[in-house]
Amino acid sequence: MALLIRNGQIVTVGVRAHGDIYVENETITRIGKNLEAPPGAEIIDATGKLVFPGFIDPHVHIYLPFMATFAKDTHETGSIAALVGGTTTFIEMCCPNRNDDALEGYRLWKSKAEGKSACDYAFHMSVTKFVKETESQLRQIVADGTASFKIFLAYKNFFGVDDGEMYQTLELAKRLGVIVTAHCENAELVARLQQKLLADGKTGSEWHEPSRPESVEAEGTGRFATFLENTGATGYVVHLSCEKALRAALDAKSRGVKISVESVLPHLLLDKSYAERPGVEGMKHVMSPPLRAKQNQQALWKALAASSIDTVGTDHCPFDTEQKLLGKDSFVNIPNGIPGIEERVNLLYTHGVKRGRLDLDRFVDAASTRAARLFGLFPRKGTIAVGSDADLVVYDTNYRGVVSAQAQHTNNDYNGFEGMPSEGRPSAVTVRGKVQVRDGEFVGERGRGRLLKREPTHF
Ligand code: URP
Ligand code: ZN
Ligand code: ZN
Repeated sequence: MALLIRNGQIVTVGVRAHGDIYVENETITRIGKNLEAPPGAEIIDATGKLVFPGFIDPHVHIYLPFMATFAKDTHETGSIAALVGGTTTFIEMCCPNRNDDALEGYRLWKSKAEGKSACDYAFHMSVTKFVKETESQLRQIVADGTASFKIFLAYKNFFGVDDGEMYQTLELAKRLGVIVTAHCENAELVARLQQKLLADGKTGSEWHEPSRPESVEAEGTGRFATFLENTGATGYVVHLSCEKALRAALDAKSRGVKISVESVLPHLLLDKSYAERPGVEGMKHVMSPPLRAKQNQQALWKALAASSIDTVGTDHCPFDTEQKLLGKDSFVNIPNGIPGIEERVNLLYTHGVKRGRLDLDRFVDAASTRAARLFGLFPRKGTIAVGSDADLVVYDTNYRGVVSAQAQHTNNDYNGFEGMPSEGRPSAVTVRGKVQVRDGEFVGERGRGRLLKREPTHF
């Protein structure tokens, strides 16, 4: 069915225009003023509203066996939460661990999402070991349209790779033209520091940050950059949390290393005092890299405004209160992660655009367009143009609300951003021309989402 979005302020990177968007067969076919709609076309009045390209979350976990449990969302709940918050595409980390077969893992993750996700999605394929069959398996996965890898320099003996395996992954990625995303911490130092803290009787969630201090992340980031430099591969640092690590990435960039940087919502808005709260309240805010000293936030926002940080993701990873309590006797057993897929766009708009830290261009770029460009989705996704998928967010800047677990669609019993004001929200969200959300409620078609096939672009 045809859809006309009428009279909105259309916002894309570098271009702002007042007008109408006409959609046929899932695709934008006309953009202009006073467009006519044929009888029967669905019409959305966007008067007084902004119209953004569908937002892209480049880092989420939906299916995730991790730390003796499983993240709580299904592809149904996670994708609905994403859509209500304006995210029309997510890229999920496909995370088999070192004991799993990579290809079997890839098939498993695909089977979990297929027919279940209400929004479009893709995967970053985690490389958690490099053995004799790895190269041929990764070639098959790339040929199947998954053109980005993920490595973990943390989580020793589970997801983590050693330096040799990192080298082999990057060297192959360079040959295949595939971008490699990386969780950058020094696994050995984390393990040693954890042991030392526990031996001193320091078991609470407040010791999580001291067990993986800023220098440990900066070392991982610098080492990843050095390996990129010496293999010629293209890299992307996920969930960078602090100024020290940022400096390591930007130093490398200034030497010509092909490296991009992601920050995630928790590190922009929350600080380590949240993880220092007593009992389970602190445990709810345990993630890796950890929440940092507050002064880091200023450096992250500044870098984000200047495009030195490229994207804002979430690292969405919901574990409920009962799961967090697995770590009540030792912080090393607290499942790492926090949800955010539903809040990312609204809180970035509120704390970025409304607070004067980001202009609208940078907001759209960081929350949508840049990820589309880096991960081979542009111009199908990440912009509003004739021929692009009609993933559109009609945004109500007059809405006022407060984040609350009670109202959320994510499958969790708390929200790490509880009580934060939201000054704006999507009033309509479309996925390939179909209205999936109206005013905070999912009204669409479950299972509509498709796996997005992507070509390698980083030669
Ligand atoms: O704490 C986090 N980030 N949990 C999810 C796994 C990861 O490191 O991305
Ligand atoms: Zn990570
Ligand atoms: Zn993650």
